[in-house]
Amino acid sequence: MKISIFGLGYVGAVSLACLARDGHHVIGVDIDPTKLRLISEGKTPVVEDGMVDLMQQVAASGRVSVTTDAEEAVLGSEISLVCVGTPSAANGSQDQGAILRLAEQMGRALRRKDSGHVVVFRSTLVPGTVEDVLRPIVERESGKQDGQDFHLCFQPEFLREGSSIRDYDKPPFTVVGANGEAAFEKLQALFGHLPCKFLRTSVRSAEMMKYCCNNFHALKITFANETARLCAALGVDPFEVMDLVCQDTQLNISRAYLRPGFAFGGSCLPKDLRATTYLAKTRDVEIPMLASILPSNTSHLDLAFDKVVALGRRKVGFVGLSFKTGTDDLRESPLVALAERLIGKGYELRIYDPEVHLARLLGANKSFIERHLPHIGQMLMPELADVVAASDVLVLGSSSPAVLQALERDVRPEQALVDLVSLPAASPLRERALGLCW
Ligand SMILES: NC(=O)c1ccc[n+]([C@@H]2O[C@H](COP(=O)([O-])OP(=O)(O)OC[C@H]3O[C@@H](n4cnc5c(N)ncnc54)[C@H](O)[C@@H]3O)[C@@H](O)[C@H]2O)c1
Repeated sequence: MKISIFGLGYVGAVSLACLARDGHHVIGVDIDPTKLRLISEGKTPVVEDGMVDLMQQVAASGRVSVTTDAEEAVLGSEISLVCVGTPSAANGSQDQGAILRLAEQMGRALRRKDSGHVVVFRSTLVPGTVEDVLRPIVERESGKQDGQDFHLCFQPEFLREGSSIRDYDKPPFTVVGANGEAAFEKLQALFGHLPCKFLRTSVRSAEMMKYCCNNFHALKITFANETARLCAALGVDPFEVMDLVCQDTQLNISRAYLRPGFAFGGSCLPKDLRATTYLAKTRDVEIPMLASILPSNTSHLDLAFDKVVALGRRKVGFVGLSFKTGTDDLRESPLVALAERLIGKGYELRIYDPEVHLARLLGANKSFIERHLPHIGQMLMPELADVVAASDVLVLGSSSPAVLQALERDVRPEQALVDLVSLPAASPLRERALGLCW
């Protein structure tokens, strides 16, 4: 392919070298003449393992050229990869100065181009940038339309400095966010051979997932470091501990606990986080991230409370009360906390939970509910249909298939549903329910 690459920093220079190595003709574009000179001399503009040899090799192949002229680059290629920097502004926002200027240049170049050009944004961009900010600029400057005359898309870059050539050749996956076939097909042809999944998605999801990946990496590092600080204070070997933690690929290093839903609760997570935070305090160890988890969980509960209140109806039916579907454990259930707050505000509550039978509750579970919902006996109903019949709002806190099936049958059109469990996509209730944050 004939490819133009805009921005020859770490991402752009490594992409240029690898694409040229793989036989493509690449035009490198940058505003920095020093970088262009280095590349044209077969030298690397970035310090990266393997780049010295690779740049020499690709410069000798004759498949690499450089220019400061964006228009020449667009006219001379069928696809453009945009890799300009998007650093932090002083207030923490993303400084989009370079990408905005580039969108204008790109638009002006496309005005003169007839064949459908594909523009792939590879810079990390805050969600909505491509569709809401860059597309209008390119359309205005070109006088043409995205999806018809040219195709904008977003493909997040996952390479790490220090191992970027290896990461280019073996990324965790290829993710392409686009609105039309043309862009997917072009990128499939360019990157489909890589030994990883090729995932198609929306432009916004692709933009957002890049932030999620980096945030998740930062979270993991901080988790290990906070754990290590606490371990050091307790005389425990942090490497041994983290090695053991990582060996659980069922619950720890896995998809478990990574699906959006309601606040967590139960008899273990809140109490153990509280004990960890207290322990750190007694040893003068700062663990701000771990200490923020319970407050963040409370924010999630606040959101559910606000959603119910915003509906402006007073008769609320809870479907599910225990901390997790399939158990009768009410200890620290976020649904109990939500019920408690609604009752405190004078809401009329009815509750159905197929697992919770007051007469069978024992020990700590019994004393917890007696303390938090002393009048639960008057609210708990043995039949779901009775709760549905008497409520204006239904709060879905159970994902039991039998419960969902019964609801599909009994729910009335005028009833409001608040979905706290993230109903399965196949459930007809999902469409009409108000999701917590989905
Ligand atoms: N560095 C990484 O490891 C990495 C990994 C994944 C994603 N990213 C993202 O990729 C993007 C690029 O990162 P980087 O580290 O390569 O940036 P960088 O700062 O090293 O390079 C950016 C280049 O863009 C050039 N530039 C600026 N305006 C231009 C214009 N109008 N036309 C042409 N060139 C222009 C600059 O001169 C510079 O050479 C960023 O959004 C970054 O967040 C970086």
